[in-house]
Order: sequence, then C-alpha cells, then structure tokens
Amino acid sequence: MKIGIIGTGGFAKMHARILADLEGIEVTAFCGTSIEKAEKEAKNWSNAIGYTKVEEMLDKQRLDAVYICVPPMAHGDIEYALIERSIPFFVEKPLGIQKEPFEMARKVGEKGLITSVGYHWRYKDITAKAASLLREHKVGMALGYWMGDMPMVPWWRDVHQSGGQFLEQTTHIVDLLRFLCGDVQEVYAAYSSQIMQNKVEGTSVSDVGSVTMKLKSGAIATISNTCILPASNKAGLELYTDQGIIELHNDRIREIKANQTREYKEQLNPYITENSIFLHAVKTGDSSNILSSYQDAAQTHQVTFAANQSAASGKPVFIAN
Ligand SMILES: NC(=O)c1ccc[n+]([C@@H]2O[C@H](COP(=O)([O-])OP(=O)(O)OC[C@H]3O[C@@H](n4cnc5c(N)ncnc54)[C@H](O)[C@@H]3O)[C@@H](O)[C@H]2O)c1
Repeated sequence: MKIGIIGTGGFAKMHARILADLEGIEVTAFCGTSIEKAEKEAKNWSNAIGYTKVEEMLDKQRLDAVYICVPPMAHGDIEYALIERSIPFFVEKPLGIQKEPFEMARKVGEKGLITSVGYHWRYKDITAKAASLLREHKVGMALGYWMGDMPMVPWWRDVHQSGGQFLEQTTHIVDLLRFLCGDVQEVYAAYSSQIMQNKVEGTSVSDVGSVTMKLKSGAIATISNTCILPASNKAGLELYTDQGIIELHNDRIREIKANQTREYKEQLNPYITENSIFLHAVKTGDSSNILSSYQDAAQTHQVTFAANQSAASGKPVFIAN
C-alpha cells in the first residue's frame, strides 16, 4: 500500500520508522511546510517525493492512506481534502483546537471513512488488563495527572497554536478515562499561570490546572496537569473501586487490594499496534479492531474543549452526548 505523511516533525518521523518495518507498506509522499524538510524525509525511502501542498500531493499520487502529524492549529483543510477524496487517514491527537473537529467527525461518519486517531494508551496491554479488571470492579472515582516539563517546540507554548496542556497533552488521560469509565457529562476547570510565562518567552499556555468531571456513570474524576517541572515526572490514571485501587502508569499497572498488590509491566509497543491495526483496516476494509476512530476521538475533544471553556468562564460546562 502507498502511504503519504503530512508533517515532518518528531512524530511524523516516529510513524515513518514504524512503517519502514511493516511488510507491504511503502511511504511514497511527504508533505511539509518546507520543501527541504519534505525532501529530506523522502530521501529515506526509495520512491518517495516531497511536497509542500497537500492538494498537489493528492493530485499527483494515488495514496491508499495518509498520516497527519501536524500541530493542533494546522488541522482542518488537510482533513477536508482527504474526506473529499475518500482517502482513509490516521491523525495524531488532538484533532484541533476549537469546534472544527465536530463538523469533520460528522463528515467522516457520512462517508463511512476508515480513520484512526493516535490515542495510543488505548492500545497498551496494561490498558487491556485494566479493562478486564474493571469487569469485576465498580469505579467510584478516578484521579488522573500529567506532571511534566514543557515541550520546547515553539507552537506548544502558544495557547492559540496548541490549545494548552490539557487539550494538547493531558487529552491522552482524558481519553483513557473515557475508554475505561465511559462518557463525561459535566466539566469544571481551574487553570493558572504560575511560572513558565516569566521563564520562557512567548508562553501563553497555563502551566497548572485541575479539571473535575462528572461521568454519565455517576463517577467523579479529577485530572490535573502541570508543565512547570524540570523533567517529565508522571502521567497516569488511578481508579478507585470497592475492591481497591487500579493504578495505570505509562509502563505498568498496579492492582492494590487490602492485603496484596500485583504489578504488571507493559510488554508491547502500542504505537506499533495502532499502526498495524489501522493499516490492516485499510487493506481489508474491516475497521473493527481500531480502538479510536475520528468520531470517538471527537468526543474526547469535546471534553478538553469544554474544560478550556470552563477555565475561561469560571463556570461548569455541561456536555450533551
Ligand atoms: N501520540 C503521541 O504520543 C504523540 C507524541 C508526540 C506528538 N504527538 C502529536 O503529533 C503532532 C505533531 O507533533 P510533533 O511532535 O511531530 O511536532 P513538531 O513540531 O516536531 O512537528 C510538526 C510538523 O508539522 C509541520 N506542519 C505544521 N503545519 C503544517 C501544515 N499545515 N501542513 C503540513 N505540515 C505542517 C511542521 O513543519 C513540522 O514538521 C501533535 O499534535 C502532537 O500532539 C503525539
């Protein structure tokens, strides 16, 4: 299958490296904001060409699928061009910054297009383990967090380009919460800027925040984040049940009960799994193993978008699902 990649940054490279090891897959096009960067990536493949315009790439090549690995502010026209031509796509989270993903989700649904979103926590084997434990446990509440340093790509610190930490980064934990505990009904957020605006020029994202959520199930969740730390510290989700605590971290899960604790380590690379499953769906037309479709990811975006609205207004935001 012939694949095009839009974006030439860190995560476009990560997906390209995985695609290089998959049988029957050839990346034939890279599209970037500069021809130098697009051609540099294309050189790693025997038949790939660099472009700076998505429409030109799609006019000149018959692609089986496209990967979209661009920053949050760059979404919109790319997806519309692919939907228009009925080309399946894999898109990195988040889907956008404002309301545009909701309209795109409607159009993707109308076309019945195969899509997959890079919410890779869903593909971890420790997440599957958590899901199986939850068949016997009822979640009363959840505590999630993404405590780390500030990614230094310039768009990230600009709230108009990234949407801020909760929407851009902590969205992984919000999506994991939705995946394991169901939909969110109401959101109340408090954000603040404590340190980074004085430390890194051009910073307009908040650097600390907490979001309280009421879930449809009745469970209560709080997810907090900060980007003030000198290094990445911890990201994860803790689920509090009548049997004890299930703690999910990046590379392990702990099941804590009254008199015993069990730990399981992540065994697989979820990025390889999500890529293989997406490409299998494109090849066979069977998308049943895709765990994060565009439409589902749009519901996660609804929660992070609502959190940003709540932080701005100081009022809770109700989500109609
Ligand atoms: N799933 C994950 O674990 C994970 C990890 C890192 C990044 N990401 C996501 O991947 C996306 C990209 O992040 P990154 O780290 O690669 O960023 P980056 O800054 O390294 O690269 C972004 C690339 O997009 C290109 N670009 C910008 N606007 C474009 C446009 N309109 N058309 C084509 N190319 C355009 C830039 O030139 C750059 O090459 C972000 O949304 C980020 O959240 C996901």
